[in-house]
Amino acid sequence: MNANNLFDLTGRVAVVTGASKGIGESIAKLLAQNGAEVIVSSRKQDSVQEVADEIKKQGYKAEAMAAHMGDMASIAQLVQNIGTKYGRLDIIVNNAATNPVFGSVENCSLEAFDKIMEVNVKGCFQLAKEALPLLKKNKNASIINMSSVGGISPEPGLGIYSVSKTALIMLTKVMAKEWGAYGIRANVICPGLIKTKFSEALWKNEQVSDHLLKELPISRIGMPEDIAGLTLFLASDAAAYSTGGVFVADGGMLI
Ligand SMILES: NC(=O)c1ccc[n+]([C@@H]2O[C@H](COP(=O)([O-])OP(=O)(O)OC[C@H]3O[C@@H](n4cnc5c(N)ncnc54)[C@H](OP(=O)(O)O)[C@@H]3O)[C@@H](O)[C@H]2O)c1
Repeated sequence: MNANNLFDLTGRVAVVTGASKGIGESIAKLLAQNGAEVIVSSRKQDSVQEVADEIKKQGYKAEAMAAHMGDMASIAQLVQNIGTKYGRLDIIVNNAATNPVFGSVENCSLEAFDKIMEVNVKGCFQLAKEALPLLKKNKNASIINMSSVGGISPEPGLGIYSVSKTALIMLTKVMAKEWGAYGIRANVICPGLIKTKFSEALWKNEQVSDHLLKELPISRIGMPEDIAGLTLFLASDAAAYSTGGVFVADGGMLI
């Protein structure tokens, strides 16, 4: 522990999924700027290579490793590659997610249901479970799962996505409870509306954004950096006593 800077991640290895853009990219950059060696991951090698190169150009440490969070073999391969290259893993940010449908639950197909659960829940479970031997090594690991305010209160048109995000909250609590004995902390973040490609249909909708700007106590739409700061806190020794926590960053949306 660096008593002078509780946010210092020097010497720690972090993997961030869904890190080629949006919230994940911002998290990968901030963790690297605070000393971590960051594995930038998403499905497309070109996109993660671009982000890793940008981080390295700024003088920080990063590596690009593509993986599909809905493909369990791809996740196992990612963990194997991390083990071979670094021999340790201290921080997992399960940030990648998918939502292939928008509309009512009665119109959600079984295929869409399965896809949402595969990426948003099963993939997060698989990454953490496969990586468990690496996480156990240094008795100071941190898992951060990216849920949503939709995991606390159902989002209109995003019913099964909301179900997946609630499952992720419980998965986090279970991990925190069972893996505390290994020195592993697990926490979950629930962002509100954040300006990224994922949520474009919402923040580009004038009715939605006007309503939010009027109703939110913090009268603006969130930015990826608003989530990155909280992730850094949870990854670091500043959050040494926080585990199983549900951290909302929504500008006050749920009040
Ligand atoms: N934006 C919001 O308003 C908001 C609100 C609440 C919660 N969240 C949560 O925040 C997280 C990040 O969202 P975002 O808004 O930053 O999204 P984004 O800008 O669309 O980025 C999504 C990232 O995930 C990757 N990805 C997508 N499917 C993947 C898969 N199957 N396997 C691996 N990587 C995959 C994408 O890259 P590739 O295409 O290269 O794979 C990309 O890097 C998600 O968990 C989302 O549910 C977002």
